[in-house]
Amino acid sequence: MSLPKRVVLVGPMGAGKSTIGRMLARELGYRFLDSDRIIEERCGANIPWIFDVEGEEGFRQRETAMLEELAAEPGTVLATGGGAVMRVDNHSVLKKDAVVVYLRTSIEQQVERTRKDRNRPLLQNDDPEAVLRRLFAIRDPLYTELADIVMHTDRKSPRLVVRQLVNRINPKTPRQQRQVRKEGRNHV
Ligand code: S3P
Repeated sequence: MSLPKRVVLVGPMGAGKSTIGRMLARELGYRFLDSDRIIEERCGANIPWIFDVEGEEGFRQRETAMLEELAAEPGTVLATGGGAVMRVDNHSVLKKDAVVVYLRTSIEQQVERTRKDRNRPLLQNDDPEAVLRRLFAIRDPLYTELADIVMHTDRKSPRLVVRQLVNRINPKTPRQQRQVRKEGRNHV
């Protein structure tokens, strides 16, 4: 089995894409890329500012352009923004040369992990939980459809998630390899 050219992490806000992505990249010896952070660097402004001034549509345009650019980078782990799956045009870009991993996370975990956050414009309102629920209903089928691996993250430490992912992506022992063949496109 050989390593994929790149690994792409998809999933909702608060799934741990950045934390897990950084650790996974270190394990695989890959470069870590965070689409949201690179958009902010390029723009010289943070995401709330981009939403304020250009609207969500402006942000989505920047996101699509960024995903296209980053898809050309081999040897990378890419953390995407939670809404990256909302444009159908992004799907083939996300899948290009990649193993796509969906970090599937309960609403409770998403709420807990985003509670104090001020950098996510979609959650700056009276009922962020209702927003997360609504987005999950729309996006969970899209993440699942895109994913080669669905990784359940609840009640798992980032270290455990990364270990399980490395075993899936680059199975070393015959036992791990048999497991991957048996499970195919799987839920871990
Ligand atoms: C968004 C998720 C955010 C960021 C933007 C919009 C979304 O990324 O791209 O605030 O639509 O779910 P994270 O998933 O990294 O929080």
